[in-house]
Amino acid sequence: MPRPRVGNVKGEQWYQADDVAESYDEKRFSRGGQLIDRREKQAVLDALGHIEKREILEIACGTGRFTTMLAERGADITGLDVSGPMLRQGRERAQSATVADSLEFLRGDAERLPFPDNRFDAVLAMRFFHIADTPETFLAEMRRVSREQVVFDTFNNYSMRMLYTWALPMGSSLYSGDDVRWWLHDTGLELDGVEHDWLVPYGFFRQAPNPIAAWIRRLDQAVVGTDLGRRLASVSYWNARLPEG
Ligand SMILES: C[S@@+](CC[C@H](N)C(=O)[O-])C[C@H]1O[C@@H](n2cnc3c(N)ncnc32)[C@H](O)[C@@H]1O
Repeated sequence: MPRPRVGNVKGEQWYQADDVAESYDEKRFSRGGQLIDRREKQAVLDALGHIEKREILEIACGTGRFTTMLAERGADITGLDVSGPMLRQGRERAQSATVADSLEFLRGDAERLPFPDNRFDAVLAMRFFHIADTPETFLAEMRRVSREQVVFDTFNNYSMRMLYTWALPMGSSLYSGDDVRWWLHDTGLELDGVEHDWLVPYGFFRQAPNPIAAWIRRLDQAVVGTDLGRRLASVSYWNARLPEG
């Protein structure tokens, strides 16, 4: 299955810089970006279902948006990222949320996870596969350390994201639903659910003041609620399970 690549991808090097890590949340999740943060967190909560006391690994956890949220809900969670500066932001966030003692942040490479097979109930990766050249490799590693579930998102080709990505100096790897279904098949995972959302790419919302972003989002949701809208959605949230038995 050919995997279309559009633009140049911000790889792991990009996130090693202090200024990139320090401005990461402010650039993406303030103003209209708050809508994105809320939607992504809801997608993670919906996919994971029961959270309390579950052993969860988040790879490419960055500044710990999800790690902290899941710790607040009682998960036994570990966040792993290759970038020291991003993890530093994550530790500060966890401290402000007073959950620093109930989670662990670890520096490491998601391609070679420092854990035995079946170590976690669930493994999560958000906003990671669009910077990954070989998502199948990472997915196989996520599956290896999970007992039950693997949750992730992808940015879609055949969507408005494709135009947006072309217009940016640094782009993303975009994938189709068929690509993801092949990865799941190849890594022995079963699709449990998928949600397609956001006709208008994330980047637009984070530039917009709150009232405009909210207004566009209402339109966006109306269109993405249709069959055609879903097919043109720029983001998909995937929930996969290990086969039983
Ligand atoms: C776009 S950020 C996403 C951060 C977080 N998941 C979120 O949604 O806010 C991508 C993250 O992937 C991390 N990353 C890139 N390559 C990695 C690798 N090979 N192993 C672990 N983390 C990696 C980067 O350091 C960065 O923190």
